[in-house]
Amino acid sequence: MRIDILTVVPELLQSPLNESILKRAQQKGLVEICVHNLRDYAFDKHRQVDDYPFGGEAGMVMKAEPIFLCIEELQRQRSYDEIIYTSPDGRRYDQHEANRLSTLGNIIILCGHYKGVDYRVREHLITSELSIGDYVLTGGELAAAIIADSVVRILPGAIGDGSSALTDCFQDNLLAPPVYTRPADFRGWKVPDVLLSGNFAEIEKWQEQQAFERTERLRPDLLR
Ligand code: ADE
Repeated sequence: MRIDILTVVPELLQSPLNESILKRAQQKGLVEICVHNLRDYAFDKHRQVDDYPFGGEAGMVMKAEPIFLCIEELQRQRSYDEIIYTSPDGRRYDQHEANRLSTLGNIIILCGHYKGVDYRVREHLITSELSIGDYVLTGGELAAAIIADSVVRILPGAIGDGSSALTDCFQDNLLAPPVYTRPADFRGWKVPDVLLSGNFAEIEKWQEQQAFERTERLRPDLLR
């Protein structure tokens, strides 16, 4: 898989994409993540990536040309399955969408910034607009990092224990059951006996019950 991320603040993406599981997934060749600075595609006199909005509102708007030039150059090298724009007014991102994106070959993520992007980019270039929640971030970079992280960690081979991505929270619309590690007794708070029993059928049954009970209590909307 290949993920190209377009941004005006590439520094914001460095650490989230280059540590831990994402770092190892790239080293293993499971994914190639390339960050592009849109300023490198701004060829006007002042190398501007943003400009004042028509209509006289406050704030700046990302210019269309650097975005078109960057994406057109990428498209000359390979075809893309999705060109995603991160924006608070996009469709809500969730685990189902992460699963779907992880099956694709090449995707582009355009990080929104300032007041947003010239609407012609959204009309004529973008294939999918995603929001990570109903709140407004300074820019789409953190949203892009979240999307890349959640997609890459479920690529086969990204996580050591092959089954662990499938038992994640949300994979079957259930919250994950509680987990514990040693010691079995911490300050008098004991790990549930069943987990120490060695009876894997009973353990699995307990985990399912707990997942269902926690989902019903904390996120009943997931069960509907
Ligand atoms: N950019 C700013 N806020 C955002 C959000 N909630 N989701 C995606 N991109 C954003």
